[in-house]
Amino acid sequence: MHYKKNNFYIEKIKAENLIKKYGSPIYCYSTKRLIENINNFKSSFKSFDPLICFSVKSNYNSNILKIVKKHGLGADVVSDGELKKVLSLGFKPNKIVYSGVGKKFEELKFAINKNILLINVESESELKIIEKLAKKLKKKVSVGLRLNPNVDAKTNSKISTGRTQDKFGLNKAEIIKILNKFANSKDIKFKCLSVHIGSQITQNKPYDNVLISINAILSKTKHKFEYVDLGGGMGIKYNKEGKKLDYTRLSKNIHKFAKKNSCKIIFEPGRSIVGNTAILLTKIIYIKKTTNKKFIIIDAGMNDLIRPALYNSRHDIIPLVKKSSKNSISHDFVGPICETSDRFLRTKNYQQLNEGDNLAIKDVGAYGIVLTSNYNLRPRPLEVIVNKSNIKKISKKQSLNDLI
Ligand SMILES: Cc1ncc(COP(=O)(O)O)c(C=O)c1O
Repeated sequence: MHYKKNNFYIEKIKAENLIKKYGSPIYCYSTKRLIENINNFKSSFKSFDPLICFSVKSNYNSNILKIVKKHGLGADVVSDGELKKVLSLGFKPNKIVYSGVGKKFEELKFAINKNILLINVESESELKIIEKLAKKLKKKVSVGLRLNPNVDAKTNSKISTGRTQDKFGLNKAEIIKILNKFANSKDIKFKCLSVHIGSQITQNKPYDNVLISINAILSKTKHKFEYVDLGGGMGIKYNKEGKKLDYTRLSKNIHKFAKKNSCKIIFEPGRSIVGNTAILLTKIIYIKKTTNKKFIIIDAGMNDLIRPALYNSRHDIIPLVKKSSKNSISHDFVGPICETSDRFLRTKNYQQLNEGDNLAIKDVGAYGIVLTSNYNLRPRPLEVIVNKSNIKKISKKQSLNDLI
């Protein structure tokens, strides 16, 4: 994704042409970027060859999942729907892990019957249901125990999952208690210790603390785990000020840890694989000038991308045709939804903009389309993927008629 002679391109396609052809707003992905991200992730951790299970919650478009699968990744799912989808796309059960605090009886039964690699258990009550089902179905079920290590991921509080006050996982004492209590179970095999402390993590220290916490458990119990699942959470750079995780340091530490404990590592990355693979193309409907700023009213709203409203996240917005003129007045990029929180970005010194100009909201590949809604009775946007000079529609734009 780059400018060529002041026009923004996705691979070999001029972004303006996509709006001309399909209208706006529209999600547009780059195949090349996705494959690069997968390969970079793999090569960052190649010294210990982890099982990489793509976090399906971040993006479950079938075409994206097919590319992910083609490049050897497994899947991390958090619902019956996600599990059924990846199975239907041919993901191998022995590359699927299943997390979530509220898996229901029928969902667990389905997962057990499919012989997936791991069910990551988040409470003793869940484990008891699994044991009951295992007996009934005459299976020995492989589970992971999800640890809540009480580690602050130093990210947005709303996407932190590894502190005592968060609903996820079991604390150290509970894990040790469960390992003792179920030590002789003929129905359950404790194959993995798993952990996921949050998303958009840009500092190494939280991961270091997780490893310390797991080491403490492993040295307290004689149980031998075949796998340690370190979850996802690896942050991406959403803008110039954003920090990036030091993958070299992370990889070195985990390699040392895996060697010491002779276990295989699992990762569940979502954002780091798909986050920067997509942009949301949008058109300026109106420009409304007030005494001290301009509201740039665009045709994408919080129903099309909720991250700024939900998490205060900052996505850069770029013009599809670059101009050199600068405008010092403050700009608020807002959507058409009847909510004050329907605001994407406040910035100064933007280029001169006119009604009808086209823009791109950047880095919307993760937690973008999956969190869209029909709020204000607006249809969900179309998704397309570009591969060199080919464009493929990968979802349908909802029709207003269907909704009405
Ligand atoms: C259990 C679990 N694994 C993996 C992920 C993926 O996280 P990320 O997209 O930050 O890599 C999530 C999302 O928060 C999650 O809840």
